[in-house]
Amino acid sequence: MSEPDHSKYVVKDLISAKAIAARIEAMANEIESIFADSQQLVVVGLLRGSFMFISDLVRELNLPVEVDFIETSSYGDSMESSREVRILKDLRGEIKNKDVLVVEDIVDTGHTLQHVIKLLNSREPARLVVCALLDKPARREVDVQADLVGFEIPDEFVVGYGIDYAQRNRNLPYIGTVKFLDD
Ligand code: IMP
Repeated sequence: MSEPDHSKYVVKDLISAKAIAARIEAMANEIESIFADSQQLVVVGLLRGSFMFISDLVRELNLPVEVDFIETSSYGDSMESSREVRILKDLRGEIKNKDVLVVEDIVDTGHTLQHVIKLLNSREPARLVVCALLDKPARREVDVQADLVGFEIPDEFVVGYGIDYAQRNRNLPYIGTVKFLDD
């Protein structure tokens, strides 16, 4: 597949950095109450899209946490889900009998989250809670949902705040939609 031309689209504002920060603070409060009694919480980020979200979220969590990462196969350079999920990098640590918070950037078709939940549950964590910054419910193909969602968004391709289009735009501090320019 040829490389997309990054000069052929613009990114239009959808969710500001300020709105993201405020929502993360509220989500962290909810997570603190869910895991108030937890002694061993492992926060698992799904690479690479959640790297910015997880780093801001854990800074708001007033709990003893460990941080670990898992990487799944992605869309590659396309805008379409491959539906077949592969684990490219597994957790470093054990999660058996520990509390686990999965941190995902977007739940789209749901295939990635369904696969990761099944995998992590097979390792017998004490509790498994999923939080996702963004949710596109209109795109769902499998019956899965995050326990905590930052923002529900329409069926549009988004970038920024860790989320990419063909590896670009992850560094934007806000979330925007990709709009292709007319030829
Ligand atoms: P799902 O398996 O279809 O739910 O896709 C989940 C993954 O696809 C997310 O973790 C993202 O990495 C990627 N993804 C889904 N929607 C978008 C989008 O709008 N922009 C960029 N990546 C996306």
